[in-house]
Amino acid sequence: MRRPSVCIAGTGRGLPAGIMTNHDFGKVGIETSHEWIFERTGIVQRHIAEKTETTTVLAAAASRTAMERAGVHAGEVDLIVLSTATPDRLLPATAVDVQAALGATRAAAFDVSAACSGWLYGLSVAEGLMTTGNAETVLVVGAEKMSSIVDWQDRSTCVLFGDGAGAAVLKRSHKKGILSSFMRSDGTLAELLYRPAGGACSPFCEDVLKDRTHYVKMAGREVFKHAVRSMAEAADRALDGARLTGNDVDLMIPHQANVRIIEATAKHAHISMDKVYVNVDRYGNTSSASIPIALDEAIETGRIGEGANVLLVAFGAGFTWASMVIRF
Ligand code: ACO
Repeated sequence: MRRPSVCIAGTGRGLPAGIMTNHDFGKVGIETSHEWIFERTGIVQRHIAEKTETTTVLAAAASRTAMERAGVHAGEVDLIVLSTATPDRLLPATAVDVQAALGATRAAAFDVSAACSGWLYGLSVAEGLMTTGNAETVLVVGAEKMSSIVDWQDRSTCVLFGDGAGAAVLKRSHKKGILSSFMRSDGTLAELLYRPAGGACSPFCEDVLKDRTHYVKMAGREVFKHAVRSMAEAADRALDGARLTGNDVDLMIPHQANVRIIEATAKHAHISMDKVYVNVDRYGNTSSASIPIALDEAIETGRIGEGANVLLVAFGAGFTWASMVIRF
Protein backbone atom coordinates (compact mmCIF):
# COMPACT_ATOMS: atom_id res chain seq x y z
CA MET A 1 0.00 0.00 0.00
CA ARG A 2 1.26 3.46 -0.89
CA ARG A 3 2.27 5.56 2.09
CA PRO A 4 -0.22 8.41 2.50
CA SER A 5 1.16 11.91 2.29
CA VAL A 6 -1.92 14.02 1.59
CA CYS A 7 -5.09 14.10 3.71
CA ILE A 8 -8.36 15.99 3.85
CA ALA A 9 -8.11 18.43 6.75
CA GLY A 10 -11.54 20.07 6.40
CA THR A 11 -14.57 20.16 4.11
CA GLY A 12 -17.43 22.54 3.40
CA ARG A 13 -20.39 23.04 1.10
CA GLY A 14 -22.16 26.05 -0.38
CA LEU A 15 -25.72 25.76 -1.61
CA PRO A 16 -28.20 28.23 -3.00
CA ALA A 17 -31.14 28.89 -0.69
CA GLY A 18 -33.74 28.22 -3.39
CA ILE A 19 -35.14 24.71 -3.73
CA MET A 20 -37.12 23.40 -6.70
CA THR A 21 -39.07 20.18 -6.16
CA ASN A 22 -40.18 17.82 -8.92
CA HIS A 23 -43.69 19.20 -8.48
CA ASP A 24 -42.47 22.76 -9.22
CA PHE A 25 -41.68 22.02 -12.90
CA GLY A 26 -45.36 22.30 -13.77
CA LYS A 27 -45.32 25.91 -12.51
CA VAL A 28 -42.69 26.86 -15.13
CA GLY A 29 -44.52 25.09 -17.95
CA ILE A 30 -42.47 21.88 -18.13
CA GLU A 31 -44.55 18.80 -18.82
CA THR A 32 -43.22 16.16 -16.44
CA SER A 33 -44.18 14.48 -13.19
CA HIS A 34 -42.65 13.66 -9.83
CA GLU A 35 -43.24 9.97 -10.58
CA TRP A 36 -41.37 10.07 -13.93
CA ILE A 37 -38.34 11.83 -12.43
CA PHE A 38 -38.23 9.91 -9.15
CA GLU A 39 -38.67 6.44 -10.64
CA ARG A 40 -35.88 6.91 -13.18
CA THR A 41 -33.38 8.91 -11.13
CA GLY A 42 -34.26 9.00 -7.42
CA ILE A 43 -34.32 12.81 -7.52
CA VAL A 44 -36.96 14.62 -5.42
CA GLN A 45 -35.62 18.18 -5.38
CA ARG A 46 -32.59 20.30 -6.31
CA HIS A 47 -31.16 23.68 -5.28
CA ILE A 48 -31.40 26.36 -7.96
CA ALA A 49 -29.27 29.51 -7.71
CA GLU A 50 -30.46 33.09 -8.06
CA LYS A 51 -28.68 35.46 -10.47
CA THR A 52 -26.38 36.75 -7.72
CA GLU A 53 -25.48 33.23 -6.56
CA THR A 54 -22.70 32.69 -9.06
CA THR A 55 -20.34 29.72 -9.30
CA THR A 56 -17.77 31.89 -7.48
CA VAL A 57 -20.19 32.78 -4.67
CA LEU A 58 -21.08 29.10 -4.10
CA ALA A 59 -17.41 28.06 -4.31
CA ALA A 60 -16.27 30.74 -1.86
CA ALA A 61 -18.96 29.75 0.67
CA ALA A 62 -17.89 26.09 0.54
CA SER A 63 -14.22 27.09 0.75
CA ARG A 64 -14.67 29.34 3.81
CA THR A 65 -16.29 26.49 5.76
CA ALA A 66 -13.61 24.02 4.65
CA MET A 67 -10.83 26.42 5.70
CA GLU A 68 -12.47 27.11 9.05
CA ARG A 69 -12.81 23.38 9.80
CA ALA A 70 -9.21 22.76 8.73
CA GLY A 71 -7.99 25.65 10.90
CA VAL A 72 -6.42 27.31 7.86
CA HIS A 73 -6.66 31.01 6.99
CA ALA A 74 -6.77 32.30 3.43
CA GLY A 75 -3.18 33.55 3.52
CA GLU A 76 -1.89 30.01 4.10
CA VAL A 77 -3.41 28.55 0.93
CA ASP A 78 -0.75 27.84 -1.75
CA LEU A 79 -3.05 26.65 -4.50
CA ILE A 80 -6.73 26.67 -5.47
CA VAL A 81 -7.85 23.97 -7.91
CA LEU A 82 -11.44 24.53 -8.97
CA SER A 83 -13.37 22.06 -11.06
CA THR A 84 -16.38 23.37 -12.93
CA ALA A 85 -18.37 22.90 -16.12
CA THR A 86 -20.05 26.25 -15.47
CA PRO A 87 -17.32 28.89 -15.13
CA ASP A 88 -18.70 32.35 -14.42
CA ARG A 89 -16.82 33.71 -17.42
CA LEU A 90 -14.95 31.96 -20.25
CA LEU A 91 -11.83 33.96 -19.37
CA PRO A 92 -10.22 34.08 -16.84
CA ALA A 93 -10.65 30.93 -14.73
CA THR A 94 -13.28 30.96 -11.99
CA ALA A 95 -10.53 29.82 -9.59
CA VAL A 96 -8.99 33.31 -9.68
CA ASP A 97 -12.34 34.89 -8.80
CA VAL A 98 -12.48 32.53 -5.81
CA GLN A 99 -8.87 33.43 -4.94
CA ALA A 100 -9.87 37.10 -4.93
CA ALA A 101 -13.10 36.50 -2.98
CA LEU A 102 -11.21 34.60 -0.27
CA GLY A 103 -8.23 36.97 -0.19
CA ALA A 104 -5.90 34.01 -0.71
CA THR A 105 -3.05 36.32 -1.62
CA ARG A 106 -0.31 33.64 -1.82
CA ALA A 107 -2.32 31.16 -3.88
CA ALA A 108 -1.91 30.03 -7.48
CA ALA A 109 -5.33 29.27 -8.97
CA PHE A 110 -6.63 27.40 -11.99
CA ASP A 111 -9.71 25.55 -13.22
CA VAL A 112 -9.97 21.87 -14.09
CA SER A 113 -12.46 20.85 -16.78
CA ALA A 114 -13.42 17.19 -16.49
CA ALA A 115 -17.19 17.56 -15.93
CA CYS A 116 -18.60 15.37 -13.13
CA SER A 117 -15.21 13.68 -12.56
CA GLY A 118 -13.54 17.05 -12.18
CA TRP A 119 -13.29 17.17 -8.40
CA LEU A 120 -11.48 13.81 -8.30
CA TYR A 121 -9.22 14.96 -11.15
CA GLY A 122 -8.56 18.10 -9.08
CA LEU A 123 -7.70 16.08 -5.98
CA SER A 124 -5.23 14.00 -7.99
CA VAL A 125 -3.55 17.09 -9.47
CA ALA A 126 -3.34 18.66 -6.01
CA GLU A 127 -1.91 15.49 -4.49
CA GLY A 128 0.77 15.41 -7.19
CA LEU A 129 1.79 19.03 -6.61
CA MET A 130 1.90 18.47 -2.86
CA THR A 131 3.91 15.26 -3.13
CA THR A 132 6.55 17.02 -5.24
CA GLY A 133 6.76 19.83 -2.71
CA ASN A 134 5.18 22.52 -4.89
CA ALA A 135 2.38 23.21 -2.43
CA GLU A 136 1.70 22.58 1.27
CA THR A 137 -1.93 23.67 1.69
CA VAL A 138 -4.36 23.27 -1.18
CA LEU A 139 -8.03 24.07 -1.61
CA VAL A 140 -9.85 21.79 -4.05
CA VAL A 141 -13.30 23.02 -4.98
CA GLY A 142 -16.11 21.61 -7.12
CA ALA A 143 -18.63 24.33 -7.98
CA GLU A 144 -21.47 24.30 -10.46
CA LYS A 145 -24.36 26.45 -11.58
CA MET A 146 -25.85 23.78 -13.83
CA SER A 147 -29.14 25.69 -14.05
CA SER A 148 -27.32 28.22 -16.28
CA ILE A 149 -26.37 25.67 -18.98
CA VAL A 150 -29.35 23.31 -19.11
CA ASP A 151 -32.10 23.98 -21.61
CA TRP A 152 -35.22 24.84 -19.65
CA GLN A 153 -37.26 23.85 -22.72
CA ASP A 154 -35.78 20.29 -22.73
CA ARG A 155 -37.50 18.21 -20.08
CA SER A 156 -35.18 15.26 -20.67
CA THR A 157 -32.22 17.16 -19.18
CA CYS A 158 -33.42 20.12 -17.11
CA VAL A 159 -35.03 17.91 -14.45
CA LEU A 160 -31.75 16.10 -13.73
CA PHE A 161 -29.40 18.84 -12.56
CA GLY A 162 -28.92 21.17 -9.60
CA ASP A 163 -26.57 23.91 -8.34
CA GLY A 164 -24.05 23.84 -5.48
CA ALA A 165 -20.43 23.66 -4.40
CA GLY A 166 -18.23 21.53 -2.18
CA ALA A 167 -14.65 22.06 -1.08
CA ALA A 168 -11.82 20.40 0.82
CA VAL A 169 -8.56 21.67 2.28
CA LEU A 170 -5.68 19.26 1.69
CA LYS A 171 -2.72 19.09 4.06
CA ARG A 172 0.29 16.80 4.44
CA SER A 173 -0.04 13.74 6.66
CA HIS A 174 1.96 10.55 7.13
CA LYS A 175 -0.76 8.64 8.98
CA LYS A 176 -3.87 8.95 6.84
CA GLY A 177 -4.99 10.23 3.49
CA ILE A 178 -5.17 9.28 -0.19
CA LEU A 179 -4.29 5.59 -0.65
CA SER A 180 -4.93 5.31 -4.38
CA SER A 181 -6.34 7.23 -7.33
CA PHE A 182 -7.40 6.48 -10.89
CA MET A 183 -8.39 8.69 -13.85
CA ARG A 184 -9.46 7.81 -17.37
CA SER A 185 -11.15 9.40 -20.41
CA ASP A 186 -12.65 8.55 -23.81
CA GLY A 187 -13.15 11.60 -26.03
CA THR A 188 -14.53 9.51 -28.90
CA LEU A 189 -17.80 9.60 -26.94
CA ALA A 190 -17.79 13.35 -26.29
CA GLU A 191 -20.96 14.04 -28.27
CA LEU A 192 -23.13 11.84 -26.08
CA LEU A 193 -23.07 14.60 -23.46
CA TYR A 194 -21.92 18.04 -24.52
CA ARG A 195 -22.62 21.68 -25.32
CA PRO A 196 -22.23 21.88 -29.12
CA ALA A 197 -21.75 25.66 -29.45
CA GLY A 198 -20.56 28.73 -27.61
CA GLY A 199 -16.88 27.72 -27.64
CA ALA A 200 -14.09 28.52 -30.11
CA CYS A 201 -15.25 26.10 -32.84
CA SER A 202 -18.71 27.63 -32.92
CA PRO A 203 -18.66 31.01 -31.19
CA PHE A 204 -21.82 32.71 -30.00
CA CYS A 205 -23.98 34.17 -32.77
CA GLU A 206 -27.67 34.54 -33.46
CA ASP A 207 -27.93 31.03 -34.94
CA VAL A 208 -26.49 29.50 -31.79
CA LEU A 209 -29.05 31.27 -29.65
CA LYS A 210 -31.87 30.37 -32.04
CA ASP A 211 -30.87 26.69 -32.24
CA ARG A 212 -30.21 26.53 -28.48
CA THR A 213 -26.95 24.68 -29.18
CA HIS A 214 -25.15 26.42 -26.30
CA TYR A 215 -27.16 24.27 -23.88
CA VAL A 216 -26.39 20.74 -22.66
CA LYS A 217 -27.39 17.93 -25.02
CA MET A 218 -27.43 14.40 -23.70
CA ALA A 219 -28.17 10.94 -25.09
CA GLY A 220 -29.53 9.73 -21.74
CA ARG A 221 -29.68 5.98 -22.38
CA GLU A 222 -26.19 5.83 -23.86
CA VAL A 223 -24.79 7.89 -21.00
CA PHE A 224 -26.47 5.56 -18.54
CA LYS A 225 -24.84 2.46 -20.04
CA HIS A 226 -21.37 3.97 -20.13
CA ALA A 227 -21.73 5.38 -16.61
CA VAL A 228 -22.54 1.95 -15.16
CA ARG A 229 -19.62 0.30 -16.97
CA SER A 230 -17.05 3.01 -16.26
CA MET A 231 -17.94 3.54 -12.62
CA ALA A 232 -17.59 -0.22 -12.06
CA GLU A 233 -14.13 -0.14 -13.63
CA ALA A 234 -13.17 2.94 -11.61
CA ALA A 235 -14.25 1.31 -8.33
CA ASP A 236 -12.15 -1.79 -9.14
CA ARG A 237 -9.07 0.22 -10.07
CA ALA A 238 -9.04 2.38 -6.94
CA LEU A 239 -9.62 -0.64 -4.68
CA ASP A 240 -6.85 -2.61 -6.45
CA GLY A 241 -4.52 0.38 -6.11
CA ALA A 242 -5.15 0.50 -2.37
CA ARG A 243 -4.96 -3.32 -2.10
CA LEU A 244 -8.46 -3.40 -0.63
CA THR A 245 -11.73 -5.10 -1.55
CA GLY A 246 -15.33 -3.96 -1.26
CA ASN A 247 -15.41 -5.61 2.19
CA ASP A 248 -12.81 -3.15 3.46
CA VAL A 249 -14.84 -0.10 2.41
CA ASP A 250 -16.61 1.71 5.24
CA LEU A 251 -18.35 4.19 2.95
CA MET A 252 -18.63 4.62 -0.80
CA ILE A 253 -19.41 8.10 -2.08
CA PRO A 254 -20.32 7.89 -5.76
CA HIS A 255 -21.10 10.78 -8.11
CA GLN A 256 -24.75 11.59 -7.53
CA ALA A 257 -26.44 11.52 -10.95
CA ASN A 258 -28.92 8.71 -10.73
CA VAL A 259 -29.68 6.26 -7.94
CA ARG A 260 -29.86 3.35 -10.39
CA ILE A 261 -26.29 4.02 -11.57
CA ILE A 262 -25.22 4.23 -7.91
CA GLU A 263 -26.88 0.90 -7.05
CA ALA A 264 -25.26 -0.83 -10.04
CA THR A 265 -21.82 0.47 -9.02
CA ALA A 266 -22.27 -0.66 -5.41
CA LYS A 267 -23.44 -4.11 -6.51
CA HIS A 268 -20.43 -4.53 -8.79
CA ALA A 269 -18.03 -3.58 -5.99
CA HIS A 270 -19.81 -5.89 -3.49
CA ILE A 271 -20.65 -2.95 -1.24
CA SER A 272 -24.07 -3.04 0.43
CA MET A 273 -26.25 0.04 0.01
CA ASP A 274 -26.09 0.82 3.75
CA LYS A 275 -22.42 1.64 3.11
CA VAL A 276 -23.19 3.98 0.22
CA TYR A 277 -23.84 7.69 0.68
CA VAL A 278 -26.82 8.88 -1.36
CA ASN A 279 -28.15 12.45 -1.47
CA VAL A 280 -29.18 12.70 -5.13
CA ASP A 281 -32.77 12.85 -3.85
CA ARG A 282 -32.08 16.29 -2.29
CA TYR A 283 -29.64 17.84 -4.77
CA GLY A 284 -30.06 16.25 -8.20
CA ASN A 285 -26.88 16.05 -10.27
CA THR A 286 -24.55 18.87 -9.25
CA SER A 287 -21.79 17.61 -11.57
CA SER A 288 -18.33 18.04 -10.04
CA ALA A 289 -19.80 19.44 -6.80
CA SER A 290 -21.67 16.22 -6.06
CA ILE A 291 -18.88 14.21 -4.39
CA PRO A 292 -17.50 17.04 -2.21
CA ILE A 293 -21.02 18.01 -1.08
CA ALA A 294 -21.74 14.37 -0.16
CA LEU A 295 -18.36 13.99 1.54
CA ASP A 296 -18.98 17.09 3.63
CA GLU A 297 -22.40 15.82 4.70
CA ALA A 298 -21.02 12.36 5.48
CA ILE A 299 -18.31 13.81 7.74
CA GLU A 300 -20.75 16.23 9.41
CA THR A 301 -23.26 13.48 10.17
CA GLY A 302 -20.66 11.08 11.58
CA ARG A 303 -20.78 8.58 8.70
CA ILE A 304 -16.99 8.77 8.41
CA GLY A 305 -15.06 7.91 11.57
CA GLU A 306 -11.34 7.85 12.36
CA GLY A 307 -9.62 5.19 10.25
CA ALA A 308 -12.54 4.75 7.82
CA ASN A 309 -11.75 3.67 4.26
CA VAL A 310 -13.80 5.81 1.87
CA LEU A 311 -14.15 5.00 -1.84
CA LEU A 312 -14.99 7.92 -4.15
CA VAL A 313 -16.17 7.14 -7.71
CA ALA A 314 -17.14 9.54 -10.50
CA PHE A 315 -18.22 9.58 -14.13
CA GLY A 316 -19.00 12.51 -16.41
CA ALA A 317 -19.00 14.21 -19.80
CA GLY A 318 -15.94 13.57 -21.91
CA PHE A 319 -16.40 10.83 -21.06
CA THR A 320 -14.21 11.02 -18.01
CA TRP A 321 -14.19 8.69 -15.03
CA ALA A 322 -12.14 8.62 -11.86
CA SER A 323 -11.90 7.12 -8.39
CA MET A 324 -9.96 7.36 -5.17
CA VAL A 325 -9.61 5.58 -1.84
CA ILE A 326 -8.99 7.82 1.17
CA ARG A 327 -8.31 6.68 4.73
CA PHE A 328 -9.63 9.15 7.31
N1 ACO B 1 -40.84 13.86 -17.89
C1 ACO B 1 -41.69 13.03 -18.54
N2 ACO B 1 -41.33 12.35 -19.63
C2 ACO B 1 -40.10 12.50 -20.11
C3 ACO B 1 -39.18 13.38 -19.49
C4 ACO B 1 -39.59 14.07 -18.34
N3 ACO B 1 -38.78 14.91 -17.67
N4 ACO B 1 -38.02 13.34 -20.19
C5 ACO B 1 -38.20 12.48 -21.20
N5 ACO B 1 -39.46 11.98 -21.16
C6 ACO B 1 -40.06 11.00 -22.04
C7 ACO B 1 -39.40 10.92 -23.39
O1 ACO B 1 -39.94 11.89 -24.25
C8 ACO B 1 -39.72 9.51 -23.82
O2 ACO B 1 -41.03 9.50 -24.31
P1 ACO B 1 -41.44 8.59 -25.59
O3 ACO B 1 -41.13 7.18 -25.17
O4 ACO B 1 -42.88 8.88 -25.77
O5 ACO B 1 -40.57 9.06 -26.70
C9 ACO B 1 -39.74 8.72 -22.51
O6 ACO B 1 -39.88 9.70 -21.48
C10 ACO B 1 -38.53 7.86 -22.28
O7 ACO B 1 -37.38 8.64 -22.46
P2 ACO B 1 -35.96 8.01 -22.27
O8 ACO B 1 -34.93 9.07 -22.48
O9 ACO B 1 -35.83 6.77 -23.06
O10 ACO B 1 -36.01 7.63 -20.71
P3 ACO B 1 -35.03 6.77 -19.88
O11 ACO B 1 -35.78 5.68 -19.22
O12 ACO B 1 -33.77 6.42 -20.60
O13 ACO B 1 -34.61 7.78 -18.71
C11 ACO B 1 -32.86 9.29 -18.07
C12 ACO B 1 -33.98 9.01 -19.05
C13 ACO B 1 -33.42 9.46 -16.69
C14 ACO B 1 -32.17 10.56 -18.52
C15 ACO B 1 -31.87 8.08 -18.09
O14 ACO B 1 -31.52 7.75 -19.41
C16 ACO B 1 -30.63 8.39 -17.33
O15 ACO B 1 -30.65 8.50 -16.12
N6 ACO B 1 -29.49 8.51 -18.04
C17 ACO B 1 -28.25 8.86 -17.39
C18 ACO B 1 -28.18 10.33 -17.37
C19 ACO B 1 -27.20 10.78 -16.39
O16 ACO B 1 -27.15 10.30 -15.28
N7 ACO B 1 -26.42 11.74 -16.82
C20 ACO B 1 -25.49 12.31 -16.05
C21 ACO B 1 -24.31 11.40 -15.83
S1 ACO B 1 -22.91 12.11 -16.39
C22 ACO B 1 -22.87 13.50 -15.57
O17 ACO B 1 -23.21 13.56 -14.44
C23 ACO B 1 -22.42 14.67 -16.32
